[in-house]
Amino acid sequence: MSETSRHDAWQAGANYDAYMGRWSRKVAPLFLDWLKAPDNGDWLDVGCGTGSLSQAILAGAAPASVTGIDASEGFVRHAAATIADPRVRFQRGDAQAIDLADASRDAVVSGLVLNFVPDKRAMLSEMARIARPGGSLGFFVWDYPGGGIAFMRAFWRAAGALDPDAAALAEDRRFPGCTEAGLRGLAAEVWGTGVETTALEVPTRFRDFADYWTPFTLGAGPAPGYCVSLSPDRREQLRRKLESDLPREPDGSILLSARAWAVKAVGPG
Ligand SMILES: C[S@@+](CC[C@H](N)C(=O)[O-])C[C@H]1O[C@@H](n2cnc3c(N)ncnc32)[C@H](O)[C@@H]1O
Repeated sequence: MSETSRHDAWQAGANYDAYMGRWSRKVAPLFLDWLKAPDNGDWLDVGCGTGSLSQAILAGAAPASVTGIDASEGFVRHAAATIADPRVRFQRGDAQAIDLADASRDAVVSGLVLNFVPDKRAMLSEMARIARPGGSLGFFVWDYPGGGIAFMRAFWRAAGALDPDAAALAEDRRFPGCTEAGLRGLAAEVWGTGVETTALEVPTRFRDFADYWTPFTLGAGPAPGYCVSLSPDRREQLRRKLESDLPREPDGSILLSARAWAVKAVGPG
C-alpha cells in the first residue's frame, strides 16, 4: 500500500460525514455484530474520525467505556461536540504509537483507517499491545482493489478520463493491499494465528445527482481533496461527465454498493 497523499484531507468533521461518515455509520454495526465482543468492556477506537464506529459501539455493544483516538484535531473536536455520552472520550493520537497502557482495553477496533497509516504493522502491534489477553481485536477497510466502493470508483473513472494524472490518486491504485488475502496475511504476521475475515456490504443510495456530487466539493477525504484542487472549469467538466455517466433508478436516485473487508482475532496472552 502506498503512502499518504496530499489530498488525504481530514479536518472538517461535517464535510467528512457528508462524504464518508454516512456510509461508515452503516458498516459499523455489521462489523460489531460479526466481532461479537462481550458486554461491559473497555473499548479503543483507533482513527475514530468523527466517531461513526464509537457511536455504534455505544449504541449496540453495551461498553463500560470507549476511547476514540485520531490524528485529526478537527475530527476529534467534532466527535466530542456531537457525541454526548459519559462513557466516551476522544483524544488526539497517532495509531502507530498510542499513548495508552499495555493490556488496558477489552476490545481494540478500527474502521477505514489502516490503509492510510504509513506503518501498518506498527498500528496492528499497538492494537495488540493495548488489548487485554483474550480481548477482541478487529478492523475493517473498504475493498478498494476489488471495486468494492462503487461511488468512489465512478468518481475516479470519470476523473481519470479527463485527467491522466488522476488515475494514480485513485484508492484502488494507492491501496492494493486492501484485499481479503492481503489483509489476512498482514494481520496474521502481527497478530499470529486465528485471524478471521469476512466481507461487509452496504447499499449506498444517493437521493439524486446533487446528493452524490455535493460531498465531493467539500474537500474532506482523498477524492474530495482532488475535486476541490481542480479549477472551476475542470471541476464543472468532471461534474457533467459524472452526471451523464452514473446510472439512475426509476425514482432518480443513484443506487451503488460498498463492500468492506473485516478482520478479527483474539488478543494475545
Ligand atoms: C476514512 S477516515 C475513518 C474515520 C472513522 N473511523 C470512520 O469509520 O468514519 C480515516 C481516519 O483515519 C485517521 N488517521 C489517518 N492516519 C492516522 C494515524 N496515523 N493515526 C491516527 N489516525 C489517523 C484520519 O484522521 C481519519 O479520521
